[in-house]
Amino acid sequence: MKLTLKIWRQKNAQDKGQMVDYQIDGIEPDMSFLEMLDVFNEDLINKGGEPVAFDHDCREGICGMCSLFINGEAHGPDRAVTTCQLHMRMFNDGDTITIEPFRAAAFPVVKDLVVDRTSFDRIQHAGGFISVNTSGRTIDANTIPINKKDADDAFDAATCIGCGACVATCKNSSAMLFVAAKVSQYALLPQGRIEATDRVLNMLSQMDAEGFGNCTNTGACEIECPKGISLDNIARMNREYLSASMKG
Ligand code: SF4
Ligand code: FES
Repeated sequence: MKLTLKIWRQKNAQDKGQMVDYQIDGIEPDMSFLEMLDVFNEDLINKGGEPVAFDHDCREGICGMCSLFINGEAHGPDRAVTTCQLHMRMFNDGDTITIEPFRAAAFPVVKDLVVDRTSFDRIQHAGGFISVNTSGRTIDANTIPINKKDADDAFDAATCIGCGACVATCKNSSAMLFVAAKVSQYALLPQGRIEATDRVLNMLSQMDAEGFGNCTNTGACEIECPKGISLDNIARMNREYLSASMKG
């Protein structure tokens, strides 16, 4: 395949940045999108150019590191996949592909296509955990009976990989789907109820402090989420927040 790539190039956080056009040839349809970028970077290096910086780690849809906005969509044109799971067969020979970083005030660009998503880490630190009694008298989690529906919903919420596609897709740069998934995965389990009140208040307060926007229920986040995190989690988090606010 022969392609035209329009790639966001930005030297550092202070640089203004710009789109730069490149041509690339010899791309196989079975290559992953990141393999295509590897081939592209190798070619660029051989020609004496500066390789394009982009984030990745597991390359199998687990870690949430890959974060590209491809042809105007977070993680590209395929559904329910991350950028690392996207394949070049989704594109046609001769296509022009636009590649940009995830854009949000709370995700500042570090270099080229790499953004700083430590705002998500700080939200997690504010409440995305449970305290466990490690005195030796800890109850085995598997011996606590849990309703099947709650267990399934908690598991579904826990599949959020923290990629940030929901934020990049939302016109308000809201992080509600991410935070709702993290709140829900604990709210549904007995182990998570102990700190439930503080958790939802602290995580939402940190979300606001990081500069994420408000949710206006457009639902774009759910459509672009590679893990299919449901908007039901936002409704659950709103109920948790209301109940916690009344207690507070
Ligand atoms: S909710 Fe979905 S899109 Fe948002 S961070 Fe989690 S996995 Fe990514
Ligand atoms: S590189 Fe880990 S999810 Fe894409």
